[in-house]
Amino acid sequence: MALDESLIEELGIGPIWVQRGAVAASTTREVEAAASTPVAAAILAEAQSNQAPAQTPHEPTPTAAAHTEAPREAPGESDAAPLDAYDDLPWTDEAPVHFAPAVAVAPDDVHTLDWDALAERVANCQRCRLCERRTNTVFGVGDREADWMLIGEAPGENEDKQGEPFVGQAGKLLDNMLRTLALSRQSNVYIANVIKCRPPGNRNPELDEVARCELYLQRQVELVKPKVIVAMGRFAAQSLLKNEASIASMRGRVHEYRGVPVIVTYHPAYLLRSLQDKSKAWADLCLARNTYRDALAALGVEQGAEKGGV
Ligand code: URA
Repeated sequence: MALDESLIEELGIGPIWVQRGAVAASTTREVEAAASTPVAAAILAEAQSNQAPAQTPHEPTPTAAAHTEAPREAPGESDAAPLDAYDDLPWTDEAPVHFAPAVAVAPDDVHTLDWDALAERVANCQRCRLCERRTNTVFGVGDREADWMLIGEAPGENEDKQGEPFVGQAGKLLDNMLRTLALSRQSNVYIANVIKCRPPGNRNPELDEVARCELYLQRQVELVKPKVIVAMGRFAAQSLLKNEASIASMRGRVHEYRGVPVIVTYHPAYLLRSLQDKSKAWADLCLARNTYRDALAALGVEQGAEKGGV
């Protein structure tokens, strides 16, 4: 593929435009599909024993007010350019989020829905308190049959207004990085978030919000059937892989989500602040590209016949 070298230069990722064969070769299959984990099974069993209704609308509670605190500041960013409001989300490795899912979520028929029904279900969702203050749900964007799926955390202010993921400065950076691999949301990538509604004040999503929302993402993955998933940021990675690991420890390996290889990388909003890590993000995309090529080769797809860029 012909790379746009000026773009690579602009992104500051030129120096590591090399094959990372050693890393690609150390593929590990370390995470079981979420639905088959003992924790998930326990949640389901608990939900069934409670005989909860299939879709319990969220009742507004006084505690919802506790979720409106101001956004946390990422450290060391005082010299950074002003960013969109959502860019204040805490996408660094600071303050680990705990993902022991303690919330029983009732079984649902979401796994049977087609694209239109799923989009409508999300648009009308009231499964958690985030529905109270959203302007729009943010379902996802891109090619619904893409080989590449990118997964972020949750909508920010701009996404909430426009109903599309990654539409601010971080989204522009993401689009530029994808472009270097001949990928774009207009043609051959699908982009979605773990959470479909904006957490007020750009706070971290709560455990129960993730638990109530994640079945939508699961269904999106089932429908897209991507050959590779890129999890952007600690939150997305921890949510998908059901762990509490740092980005640093998750990068550079091939994980798995429901049978699909997963590459973990930094969140684009974090990269806007931490220019020194852009080259690492580029390395992650190269690993994703190699993983994608491996997946195609395993399927007997000839090079050049792939639809997913690179
Ligand atoms: N950050 C995300 O993780 N997702 C978006 O859609 C926007 C910002």
